[in-house]
Amino acid sequence: MSKAKKKKKKENATIVGLQWGDEGKGKIVDYLADDFEAVARFNGGSNAGHTIVIGRERHVFHLLPSGAPKGKELLIGPGVAVDPVVLSEEVALLAGRVTQLDLRVDGRCTLVTPLEKVMDVAIEEMRGARPLGTTRRGVGPAYAMRALRLAPRAIDIFSDNFDFNSARTFHRFLSEPPPSISEWLSLSRKVLKGKLGDVASRVAELNEEGKAVIFEGSQGTLLDVFFGTYPYVTGAPTIANYAAAGLGISTNTDVLGVLKCYTTRVGAGPFPTEIRGRVGEKIREVGKEYGATTGRPRRVGWLDLVALRYAVRLNGVKELALSKVDVLEHVKELKVCAAYRLDGREIEDFYEALSRIEDVKPVYRELKPLLHAEMTDGRFPRTVESFIELLEEELKARISLVSYGEERSRTIER
Ligand code: IMO
Ligand code: MG
Repeated sequence: MSKAKKKKKKENATIVGLQWGDEGKGKIVDYLADDFEAVARFNGGSNAGHTIVIGRERHVFHLLPSGAPKGKELLIGPGVAVDPVVLSEEVALLAGRVTQLDLRVDGRCTLVTPLEKVMDVAIEEMRGARPLGTTRRGVGPAYAMRALRLAPRAIDIFSDNFDFNSARTFHRFLSEPPPSISEWLSLSRKVLKGKLGDVASRVAELNEEGKAVIFEGSQGTLLDVFFGTYPYVTGAPTIANYAAAGLGISTNTDVLGVLKCYTTRVGAGPFPTEIRGRVGEKIREVGKEYGATTGRPRRVGWLDLVALRYAVRLNGVKELALSKVDVLEHVKELKVCAAYRLDGREIEDFYEALSRIEDVKPVYRELKPLLHAEMTDGRFPRTVESFIELLEEELKARISLVSYGEERSRTIER
């Protein structure tokens, strides 16, 4: 957080996405990481795809916190579903790039095993004509298996009595025979050996030493399993308050909400402001809107103030980071959705629309386009400033960071 960045050094900060994911959280976490000792992931799993671009290098992390390129201490809290296979790939990738990897995975993390990946695919198929379009990374099933108390925790695989039979028996309800886990087990033991610990107490310890931690959220508020557009959501909570639960700490922090200046969504589900046709394609191409985890083209839409006001309130956001402003430079029209129309009524409350979100029609406000939004003397042109001010007024939060290009250096503080 920019203000916090200048004056005080030791407060933790939570960073969350306010839309359906891919808001640019990774870049913002990397930008802010200098003033923090550690970066901790608190939710989700390898369904996330956090991209950081440094010169010509492009890092995409699915599981490791985005503090990795800056060599920060990396923490993975108990609220995360950890796929050891992905973890070992990311650890190997980093081996050549950072001098020393300082990673601690909480022993209470839920592990994603080969069973959950098979389940993810099978459950999607079971849904027939209405699949959710999951990332197929097994994350939803892993949280489900945890709720059923059939998932192994990271510490369990090191126990002599490690028992995987109940999970395999359960899996037989699915038509396919359960995949073998012996290879998975040896790889998992290898990658997790020496890295397990108590992340909750490590955060407390760092804070006691006067060092701050960034709590890095994955996915976005509208994908939250309780508050999002259920059932088209991810398998876990994504709102800022879950940082405390997902890391096992008692307090909450200042929250920086990240939003993109248009909206995207990967996978199925309602999307009131979706743009069909050329403008959407243009934004997709210029903004490189293809899934960092699955490579799927992202669906593109205008900014949705109804959904954003809801997200800002749920997360207790007072400060915002706005990303991808450069993308709208190339688009000759600009709209924001100010309300929804449903049965001849105008609705401004997302909750009211939630049960019939597929039927709402956006009520748009036309704005001046942001053409030629390049900065001169560190200032944005008037059109961009007015756009930012309009968002601040509508969302009752300050936009303190603006990202206008994917490269690490293209971020400014306001
Ligand atoms: P980051 O952290 C965008 C979406 C999937 C699908 C739905 C359920 O990069 O913002 P899941 O595999 O979680 O069961 O899929 O959630 N989804 C994301 N979309 N960004 C993400 O993460 C996402 N993680 C999951 O596309 O629609
Ligand atoms: Mg992403």
